[in-house]
Amino acid sequence: MRMDEITGEYRKYIDQILEKWLSNFENEPQKILYDAMQYSLLAGGKRLRPILTLEFCRLCGGEWKKAAHFGAAVEMIHTYSLIHDDLPAMDNDDYRRGRLTNHKVYGEALAILAGDALQTDAFSCVTSADLPGEAICRAVSVLAEQAGSRGMVGGQVLDILSEERELTEQEVLDIQSRKTGGLIRAACALGVIAGGGSPEQLDAADRFASCLGLAFQIRDDMLDVIGTQQEMGKGVGTDDGKNTFVRLYGLERCEELVQEYTQKAVEALQVFDDTEYIVAISNTLTQRKV
Ligand code: IPE
Ligand code: IPE
Ligand code: MG
Ligand code: MG
Ligand code: MG
Repeated sequence: MRMDEITGEYRKYIDQILEKWLSNFENEPQKILYDAMQYSLLAGGKRLRPILTLEFCRLCGGEWKKAAHFGAAVEMIHTYSLIHDDLPAMDNDDYRRGRLTNHKVYGEALAILAGDALQTDAFSCVTSADLPGEAICRAVSVLAEQAGSRGMVGGQVLDILSEERELTEQEVLDIQSRKTGGLIRAACALGVIAGGGSPEQLDAADRFASCLGLAFQIRDDMLDVIGTQQEMGKGVGTDDGKNTFVRLYGLERCEELVQEYTQKAVEALQVFDDTEYIVAISNTLTQRKV
């Protein structure tokens, strides 16, 4: 099967799980909350994180559909992080996933609450997976660690604090590893857990995810300069004054670093067989325009 077909199949399945999840709540009196959650969750998005979850499950010999609730949960947390990241108190952005940001449509209070609900409901989604209790317990623990105060949220705080001064290379790497690396690491680890992978496979997936996460954020920072709003579906040129990788290294060096980190990520995959798809998708991300 071609890379695009596998990606399409994974995406379709994840979208179905997310749609079904939201449809459980159609008759709740706080329907407006679900409308706001759905507005951002089903707005498209590359679904990179759940794709990684499904693929790592498969690479570990598991049935990939069994990892879908884990992947959907990571996507819910990722979407909540984007809704909050766009708020006026944070990046103050107007466009996301090709449409107005959540707070522009639903107002700040509902945008905050839609993010809160996506975060909490993500953990219900993990616990509803058709997998052994031990796997679910480990998944909850990893997701909480990578999304929380030491992971993504911690990175977002450091990112905001950093706007006031010039950072060292090590500081930028640390912030980006948490803010973007956290959820990518969680996505890969949850796939290994769902697939019943070994400790060596978990370790390799984590090294892969850490390097891919850096390559991904470097490319994100580049696209703020060289991308277009039409392709990206979010505002560009909005990172002025931030400690981005482009500010630290310049565009040319960033381009090389995306290749270098992706190469390192791919090298970490040696303990797995049948890595053609994951290698192909990692390489495609180096040139992404979205
Ligand atoms: C954007 O993530 C925010 C970052 C962590 C860089 P994505 O580029 O994966 O956004 P979507 O999910 O495709 O909208
Ligand atoms: C956001 O990083 C990372 C998150 C944890 C949401 P950015 O602020 O660079 O993401 P974009 O460019 O708005 O998507
Ligand atoms: Mg931000
Ligand atoms: Mg932002
Ligand atoms: Mg960005």
